[in-house]
Amino acid sequence: MKIAIFGSGYVGLVSGVCLAELGNEVTFVDIDSNKLESIQRGTPPIYEEGLEELLKKNLTRIHSSSAAQYDSSDAEAIFICVGTPPNPDGTPNYKFIRTVTAQIGESIKKTPHNVTIIVKSTVLPGTTEEIIRPILEEHSEKKVGRELGLAMNPEFLKEGLAIHDFMNPDRIIIGSMDEYSREILTRIYAPFSCKKLHTTPKVAEMIKYVSNAFLATKISFANEIGNICKRNGIDTEEVFTGVGMDARINPAFFVSGIGFGGSCFPKDVQALISHATNQGLPPKLLPAVLSINDEQPLRLISILKKYIPNLHGKRIGILGLSFKPCSDDIRESRVIPILASLLEEGAEIMAYDPLAIEQMKHIFPGITYVKSAEAVLNTEAVLIATAHPEFELLNYEGKVVIDGRRVRAAAKGAAIYEGVCW
Ligand code: UGA
Repeated sequence: MKIAIFGSGYVGLVSGVCLAELGNEVTFVDIDSNKLESIQRGTPPIYEEGLEELLKKNLTRIHSSSAAQYDSSDAEAIFICVGTPPNPDGTPNYKFIRTVTAQIGESIKKTPHNVTIIVKSTVLPGTTEEIIRPILEEHSEKKVGRELGLAMNPEFLKEGLAIHDFMNPDRIIIGSMDEYSREILTRIYAPFSCKKLHTTPKVAEMIKYVSNAFLATKISFANEIGNICKRNGIDTEEVFTGVGMDARINPAFFVSGIGFGGSCFPKDVQALISHATNQGLPPKLLPAVLSINDEQPLRLISILKKYIPNLHGKRIGILGLSFKPCSDDIRESRVIPILASLLEEGAEIMAYDPLAIEQMKHIFPGITYVKSAEAVLNTEAVLIATAHPEFELLNYEGKVVIDGRRVRAAAKGAAIYEGVCW
């Protein structure tokens, strides 16, 4: 099938390359010409495990174009994969969505055959039908359900595992407005034998938010229970092993620690809260999920102060800066409030991360960043903020370690060891 992807950011690029791997002809359309050149050379503009190999392998089926030059004459499906950054009130901003929808509308005006537009960007319930549809119909001068297909198809990709997640989905949600888009998406996803739910765009949009809100809730729940377990001398990990054995409860995402970060969970939970609040339904549970997540990293500082009450002038080591292991992404990383608090207390920070030092320098340029994890151990106390696998290989003998991610080697080897929930 001939497919175009508008927006070659993280979701667009991974989805497009995987769709090419499935045998489709894929055209990336983006305003950033450097990005497109880089894709065309076979060098992905972002790092994602396995992406470069897959891009290079499928280069003959991958094309690129600016929006102005994009020729839709043989396109059957066009994915919208642009970002929806938050407005000041937390709701998603649709300026990129509006722009590309208008561009797509213009580009398909003269296309003689039916084209299906598929929204993959994360948008609030109602957006595909109430915002995207009118713009598309106005600019294409075509009607959804007659000469135009329109559907919403959310993504569930995890950073670092995105290729694997696309190629091995748990489920595929197809929210179509018409028979034509339903049939096109059924064809696109025919190679996958996972569960497929055919529904409306509104339900598909909501499924994305609810999935992320529920996973975030699981993590904050695990952290709140973890704090109670710690006070009672109970191993929270064992508790969740037992809890997860219940057939009604999936054991994943019950790992206690200093909370969730990244570009999705905090933003999506806030968007759902703002959306419901704007409708006169302020949620009670979801704000608690975020407030537990805000407090959790600062617990590491309270524990540290049991051992070093006055942090002024003290050298404190930080292991891990990214929001999760094997990633260079620091967006909403739980280490950010930890670093801010340590600096406020006058501590001297020495930080290490295998991938994310350059990124963190933009937020905290004054911190000492070191090139090896061992160097961080040469401080008065070490805080572990991300469970990078290499931290399991360090020798923590004689050290004071306060752990936010349960690194076994630290628990075994350190002279003084305490975890945030254990
Ligand atoms: C998340 C979802 O897992 C994806 O399904 C979704 O598609 C994506 O957001 C999105 O909306 O685009 P991602 O942000 O890559 O993916 O990160 P996760 O691997 O889910 O981790 C999120 C955070 O939760 C990390 O900071 C991680 O350390 C933390 N976490 C995760 C815990 O603290 N405990 C757990 O048990 C699991």
